[in-house]
Amino acid sequence: MSDRLLRPVPAIRGSITLPGDKSISHRALMFSAIATGLSTITGLAAAEDVQNTLLCLKKLGVGIKKQKGKIIVTGAGMYGLQRPQKVLDAGNSGTTMRLLSGILAAQDFTSTIDGDASLRKRPMRRIIEPLENMGARIDSQDFKAPLTIHGGTLRAIDYASSVASAQVKSCILLAGSYARGFTRVTEPAVSRDHTERMLQEFGANIRHKEGMAGIKGPIQLKSAELDVPGDISAAAFFIVGACLLPDSEIELLNVGVNPTRTGILDALAHMGAFIKQDDVELRSNEPRARLIVTSKKLHGATFGGLLIPRIIDEIPILAVAATQAEGVTTIRDAGELRMKESDRIMTIVENLKRMGANIRETRDGMIIQGPTRLAGAEIESYGDHRIVMSFSIAGLIADGETLIRDVDCVNTSFPGFFELVDKISHV
Ligand code: S3P
Repeated sequence: MSDRLLRPVPAIRGSITLPGDKSISHRALMFSAIATGLSTITGLAAAEDVQNTLLCLKKLGVGIKKQKGKIIVTGAGMYGLQRPQKVLDAGNSGTTMRLLSGILAAQDFTSTIDGDASLRKRPMRRIIEPLENMGARIDSQDFKAPLTIHGGTLRAIDYASSVASAQVKSCILLAGSYARGFTRVTEPAVSRDHTERMLQEFGANIRHKEGMAGIKGPIQLKSAELDVPGDISAAAFFIVGACLLPDSEIELLNVGVNPTRTGILDALAHMGAFIKQDDVELRSNEPRARLIVTSKKLHGATFGGLLIPRIIDEIPILAVAATQAEGVTTIRDAGELRMKESDRIMTIVENLKRMGANIRETRDGMIIQGPTRLAGAEIESYGDHRIVMSFSIAGLIADGETLIRDVDCVNTSFPGFFELVDKISHV
């Protein structure tokens, strides 16, 4: 377990190319695996989470190799996966476990998928219930992993999800692509739509509009050539860093700007940030753009409702920004944060308090009074990659030294994060 020491810097400057989007990378591998023929993927995330998806697919008999910087997947077809000899290990990755379960539920074999201590604590009832309604049988530890999935023939369902979760939606759509009839998922707010967009790239006829997605099964996916954009969730740390450190200017290239993911840009703009977007281009059915961010004084704001699913992974870094904003920032309707790699409401509030922030935890969010000069402190990562990265940026703006304990989990989504921080820090 390694720790990391951060010291204040006056500015960050430079041009940044981000790792491939993690959500899109998982889907690219999984959909290629059940398609027919050879699919190619460029820009795949090197994240450990994505590596776990890749290893699970290999255990299911899928051929995946790297050639000249591209990933080439030999699709097994919808029914060509093989019964795994061992337990499938999703590691820390909720996306691996929840999406893959949708595929496994339709196979004519039994398989077990497990994860690390954090993933074993996360709620799986949200996928077990709909998959069992479709005809699968799933053994669990009180609706938690490990999950043993007895797959088989599925029936289409009309499912009203009580949470806005792209993982739940995607799991059901994947299962629905095997089921005879029209499978429909509705959700209380729009979650990221990468599955819907990418299934179209694989030739699927998928219907989706605000809060509803549906697929008529059974389908056969054909192969695709995919290019994964840079991860806006990874970009968010540097965007906030550039907003907060005076005299900063950064350029972020090829950032995914899918509207279901750009809540952080909207939230920061609402707080007074200046983020310029140009060179917008649609590739592999996903928009991407160049972003330019310069320092700006921020003011507090209230965030909740439909924005929350569009910003869910960026709330830890938004909270850091709020400590520097003039006035009160309120984040509400974000109870889902307690279901992530750590209970992020608790882990953000606890760590920001250690740095001297004026912050209060609420049931479904937090209230932050700014601005406060943060003081360097000892930070617990709680094994959560986004906590490590958010508090690294806090460490750059704080007085004195910030020591972050147990930072290896940064590789979950962003290997090379600290090297990039060093590269763009101006001292
Ligand atoms: C993800 C969806 C989100 C997000 C997670 C990745 C995905 O989770 O927090 O990091 O790839 O579908 P939920 O859909 O469960 O909110």
